[in-house]
Amino acid sequence: MIKRNIIIDCDPGIDDVVALCFMFANEDKFNILGITTVAGNQTIENVTNNALGLMSFLNKDIKIARGAKGPLLREKRPASNVHGANGVGDYQFPQTKELYSDNAVTFLRDTIMSADDKVTLIPVGPLTNIALLIKTFPEVISKIELLSIMGGATIGGNATPTAEFNIWADPEAARIVFDSKIPIVMSGLNVTHSTGLYRNDVDELMKSTGKVTKMCGEIMNFYFKGDHVKKGTFSPIHDACAIMYLIHPELYEFRHMPVKVDCSEELSRGNTVCDVREWFDYDETYPKVLTCVDLEKFRDILLEDLYRLDKMYK
Ligand code: BDR
Ligand code: CA
Repeated sequence: MIKRNIIIDCDPGIDDVVALCFMFANEDKFNILGITTVAGNQTIENVTNNALGLMSFLNKDIKIARGAKGPLLREKRPASNVHGANGVGDYQFPQTKELYSDNAVTFLRDTIMSADDKVTLIPVGPLTNIALLIKTFPEVISKIELLSIMGGATIGGNATPTAEFNIWADPEAARIVFDSKIPIVMSGLNVTHSTGLYRNDVDELMKSTGKVTKMCGEIMNFYFKGDHVKKGTFSPIHDACAIMYLIHPELYEFRHMPVKVDCSEELSRGNTVCDVREWFDYDETYPKVLTCVDLEKFRDILLEDLYRLDKMYK
């Protein structure tokens, strides 16, 4: 099996941490070329510490590059209400690993251009780093295989009634990315609200004696306290969706359609306007928007893989 070259651009973030663990459980399918961080769920200092902390916890020597401190134009507004003051629900990771680069954009350029083959980027935070990369080093565009993005929604939002957090956090960056013509798969809230775990799953994870699953249970328990959770019974793990698609695309239904980002200062700022009108037939040059997922299979695979990762730490 040919391994896919990947770089994940993230803002850990509770669901980012679970997604990263899921990625490591599937390391046999990926060449993980690095992790870049971006301010989003928390400050750039906190999210970078969390990425380094997780690598220390998992004892992984993955290159980590620190990215943008905030959005292109607006002030940053961390999601402490969802992810806690340190970004991972107050969980304390060990800190034994060091930053590889303090410039995510040049790290991305250098890594993509020197890779043996095309690279898939997995942006699961605000799109600031990716927009800066595209504008500063457009030569990377032809070497990017795919952007598997967690962000947006075909309808609705979570940061506001009309905007999903990652897009709302930096709409101007998101517009640059969605207008770039790079192949995109969009995991929006319309699917990620069905990609997650039940309250009972998290209770079981918390009782686990496995290193990874117990940690995931503890941080997910914090996540469950947020008001984004459906009546306390099910919680999305948004960011894992963008990785799951790369491993199990058969779990999803999708349609290609134009996606335009609203950068106005009006009520719908940060909205991803998706042309879902069924009587238009858009070809594959338009973003592939995931429209439906098999929730139970997603949950089964995610849990199985997290428990499998435990076995590497026995
Ligand atoms: C997205 O926003 C963040 O809070 C999560 O980590 C995820 O990337 C969901 O809207
Ligand atoms: Ca995230």
